[in-house]
Amino acid sequence: MEKTINWGILAPGRIAHKFAHDLRMVEGARLHAVASRSLERAAGFAAEYGAPHAYGSYEELLDCPGLDVVYVASPHTGHFGHTLLCLERGIPVLCEKPFAVNAAQARKMVETARANNTFLMEALWTRFIPLFKEALRLLDSGYIGALKTIRADFGFRANFPPEHRVFNPALGGGSLLDVGIYPVFLATLLWGKPEGVMASAVFGASGADDSCAMILEYPGNRLAILDCSLVVRTEIEAYLYGETGTMCLHNRFINPEELSISFYEKSAEHIAMPCVGHGYYHEILEVNECLRQGKKESGKLPLDFSLQLMETLDQVRREAGIVYPGEQV
Ligand SMILES: NC(=O)c1ccc[n+]([C@@H]2O[C@H](COP(=O)([O-])OP(=O)(O)OC[C@H]3O[C@@H](n4cnc5c(N)ncnc54)[C@H](OP(=O)(O)O)[C@@H]3O)[C@@H](O)[C@H]2O)c1
Repeated sequence: MEKTINWGILAPGRIAHKFAHDLRMVEGARLHAVASRSLERAAGFAAEYGAPHAYGSYEELLDCPGLDVVYVASPHTGHFGHTLLCLERGIPVLCEKPFAVNAAQARKMVETARANNTFLMEALWTRFIPLFKEALRLLDSGYIGALKTIRADFGFRANFPPEHRVFNPALGGGSLLDVGIYPVFLATLLWGKPEGVMASAVFGASGADDSCAMILEYPGNRLAILDCSLVVRTEIEAYLYGETGTMCLHNRFINPEELSISFYEKSAEHIAMPCVGHGYYHEILEVNECLRQGKKESGKLPLDFSLQLMETLDQVRREAGIVYPGEQV
């Protein structure tokens, strides 16, 4: 029989609820422990999702008996320290996106995972969504010819109070690391590190970037034209322009359930494929599988990819003047 994977959640906020919802749908895995800065919050969350252990500090989670893996779901600036806490104790980690706030932190996380021979993966769930995987397969097979241009956007109107983490530069707040990471993820996954980056951002009252526009240049006359925002809602679609056709991953391209392909020489096609749960189900399966096989990283979302993505985000920040207090890129 397959080993049941015992998950711990570190920082039970908004996304952790969605994750725990999906975890309940996964066979052979369960929520085993929850750790919050407040015991009351941890206990409430644990009771809601049936976890047997609750802790009032993140450090206590590390001593939880029977724990197999920790999902780090703190704000961006917490990812580095919270991931290291686990890795240094040899506890595998699935860390929320962005992996860290800069590439220097990401590098240290990867080094620590490797030095401790411990599993680590960034929670870029898009990579494991069934229709997204199908899109990659079609692109790989040359379905729309050589890909020349990528356009992708992610903008939403963040109707949160001004003190919310997304507006707080001290927590890595702003549109780029919150949502802009997805279009950059797409370009990086398809084409790797760009040869040139142009970017411009506009900033809100808190100093966090409200919106950011990016052009990534790749060899072979290829361009990725990307944008993100916390102040306006955009289509949240990805257009992939090939030499014989165009593929559109429809709203929201980060967890797509529909795509269409228009060809220059024949009629259009449409493909629909559902996600399970909120879509986090699929990344959980990947981590469970890696752990059962004793892998230290995912072949589909390797650590070098997360490093490359973080390096490109650093480059965008340098171009656009996006800085967080107390760190430099
Ligand atoms: N993959 C996705 O689709 C997706 C979607 C949304 C967010 N995310 C990522 O997940 C992370 C968390 O986002 P979220 O929307 O869940 O945030 P959130 O609702 O604010 O929750 C974050 C949790 O972190 C803990 N925390 C620790 N230090 C904190 C601090 N200094 N300030 C505020 N909270 C702190 C809090 O829990 P305790 O105090 O109880 O410990 C809080 O509930 C972000 O990095 C974000 O990029 C990913």
